Amino acid sequence: MKHFISITDITKQEFDDILTLAHKLKKMQKAGTPHPYLSGKSLGMIFAKSSTRTRVSFEVGMYQLGGHPLFLSSNDIQLGRGETIYDTANVLSGMLDGIMIRTFSQDDVYDLAKYGSIPVINALTDLEHPCQAMADMQTIYEEFGKLEGLKFAYVGDGNNMAHSLAHACAMAGIDCYIATPEKYKCVPDQIEKAKDLAKNCKIVETVDPEEAMKGADIVYTDTWVSMGQESEKETKVKEFGDYQVNKKLFSLTSENSIFLHCLPAYRGFEVTEDVIDGPHSRIFQEAENRLHAQKAIMTMLMADSYK
Ligand code: CP
Ligand code: NVA
Repeated sequence: MKHFISITDITKQEFDDILTLAHKLKKMQKAGTPHPYLSGKSLGMIFAKSSTRTRVSFEVGMYQLGGHPLFLSSNDIQLGRGETIYDTANVLSGMLDGIMIRTFSQDDVYDLAKYGSIPVINALTDLEHPCQAMADMQTIYEEFGKLEGLKFAYVGDGNNMAHSLAHACAMAGIDCYIATPEKYKCVPDQIEKAKDLAKNCKIVETVDPEEAMKGADIVYTDTWVSMGQESEKETKVKEFGDYQVNKKLFSLTSENSIFLHCLPAYRGFEVTEDVIDGPHSRIFQEAENRLHAQKAIMTMLMADSYK
């Protein structure tokens, strides 16, 4: 694995290895066992959008691995003033050991990887959020002790989260149902990629949230208004009413189902308080797993040795 930009770019073996290492690193951290696999290494963290979880988890993760994280707001570096990705990639490659980037265009992330010579990690674009989806798979595994054969229901906007979750479910052998309003379906190419990857499971798009929720083991939703779409808020809130994850919809799921949300959440919009703060919710365990899953990704990409 040279970069981590999309789950569709890695092998099933690499996908499984990330989860195995994430589990091991979590245990080591909880036991207080040092694991300085990135000692002497530096990670540049470029942010063109806001963040709480991603920034903190990468920064703390790098520290726990013995390395050094640098927060680079795109407002403060020359990239935000028009310096090219080509020049930025070449300059950063001379000083850093890896780059994490959160930005708008997925093409920019691929360009950074193409022009530079160090590993690049996608920390969210308009199209995908693969790091979050890996932490979600770790959380699901912790809960059920397996991934294959489960039923996953995503209800809400056909956005970056929906795409990466479809890819992850496909890799993991989880049946994935994505319920969105017709107007807010996923990008077709992203679903095609998930279907191509899905060997032992189904990837189903529907406009019927009940079809997705019936018997689901995992229920997932995300904000209706992603970063950069703030001007669409009023319209979207009106159009997503039937897609709110509430107690009534949740009652269709399997008895031991769990609720996940990448956060930040907007209670009373995409999910009601009784669900997100109720007994089935695992949102904070899920948020913590960002740390462990990303430490695994950084170690696999940047460590000289770790086995
Ligand atoms: N889930 C997630 O990526 O959160 P942040 O936007 O706070 O990083
Ligand atoms: N879909 C959301 C995810 C935030 C972590 C966004 O892009 O804003």
